[in-house]
Amino acid sequence: MSPIPLKIGIIGGGAISELHLNSYQNNSAAELYAICDLNESRAKQKAAQYNIPHLCTDYNVMLQLPDLEAVVICTWNNTHADIIMAALDAGKHVFVEKPLCTTISDALAIQRKTIETGKTLQVGFIRRFDPNVQMLKTFIDHGDLGRIYYAKASALRRLGNPGGWFADREKSGGGPLIDVGIHVLDLSWYLMGCPRPIAVSANTYNKLGNRSNIKNLAFYKTADYNPNFNNVEDLANAMIRFENGASLYLDTSYTLHAKRNETSVVLYGERGGTEVLPETWLIIEKYNTILNARPQTDQDGLNVDAAFQEQTDHFVECCLENKAPRTTVEHGVEIMRMIDAIYESSRTRKEIKLSKGRGMES
Ligand SMILES: NC(=O)c1ccc[n+]([C@@H]2O[C@H](COP(=O)([O-])OP(=O)(O)OC[C@H]3O[C@@H](n4cnc5c(N)ncnc54)[C@H](O)[C@@H]3O)[C@@H](O)[C@H]2O)c1
Repeated sequence: MSPIPLKIGIIGGGAISELHLNSYQNNSAAELYAICDLNESRAKQKAAQYNIPHLCTDYNVMLQLPDLEAVVICTWNNTHADIIMAALDAGKHVFVEKPLCTTISDALAIQRKTIETGKTLQVGFIRRFDPNVQMLKTFIDHGDLGRIYYAKASALRRLGNPGGWFADREKSGGGPLIDVGIHVLDLSWYLMGCPRPIAVSANTYNKLGNRSNIKNLAFYKTADYNPNFNNVEDLANAMIRFENGASLYLDTSYTLHAKRNETSVVLYGERGGTEVLPETWLIIEKYNTILNARPQTDQDGLNVDAAFQEQTDHFVECCLENKAPRTTVEHGVEIMRMIDAIYESSRTRKEIKLSKGRGMES
């Protein structure tokens, strides 16, 4: 059992770190103890803003702090694997922003290291922690929708390539699929009960570039925005088949000639359906009548602050009480396997079969 408050180190003080820093500040069982960023002035600014006693530009220096218990990794995707491995070797618990890493081989090595060290590893699939998602999961777990056999997930931006490292495949591992599509893919898969994927057929397109010429519309940008380089896909779509017979259709874009942005997740079961996003609906049949029921909750869609707080509180609790997190390393590996197969299917123009024995149980 780790001592309270749990001493936390944040690695990467860019755009998303703010939400993590705020939620750790609100958790009385945790203490913001150290911050690291390659960009020293960014680390200094965050240390001052959040009253963090230790700061550095090399995460290996942070990992030597003997009282540091856990790290939160908010860096470029291609750095996740090395930082996770070093942190686990140093005996720290790890929270890593999505994606777990950028290759299957790294994902499997991380899984082995997590088991070997017995440390907590939680992956940042934030949407599982949204209050509406947990509410809908209660209905699903009680069998109100029956077995879910089809899901549709979209994360379509008409304009929204974040630039900088996000647009550089070497650093990001891919485009909208590994950045925003991953959220709706994971959310659907989680609510379907995490069935084992067996085949993937997919397409990716690089048709429109990053469209940095467009004026009058704001969008999410990396802390080091640079529109001058872009070699990631701007659209991906995929059909994923699962061992239990269920299937999932996914599409995701950084830019598309679409009328508006669209984030939607809809699940269809044998007894009922649910719209998870953008609105919250349950579709059921009763006495030969179809009912579109509207669960009454504080807000539709993702409640970002509540989800981040819940995600953080859960990580702290798992570290302190040695519990398995809701978003396990096995789930991170399996999502990586689906993403990898989507890119391979697009490259080879073939359906990719995912062999039995690999993935969650490997
Ligand atoms: N959960 C979500 O909804 C969500 C949203 C945005 C980003 N993310 C994820 O969070 C991570 C960071 O994204 P961001 O938008 O904050 O990017 P960002 O570019 O704004 O910030 C990344 C920061 O990491 C620092 N950094 C990079 N490599 C480092 C290293 N080796 N050591 C120390 N610092 C390093 C950079 O200097 C930068 O300050 C990514 O993995 C991204 O996929 C998640």
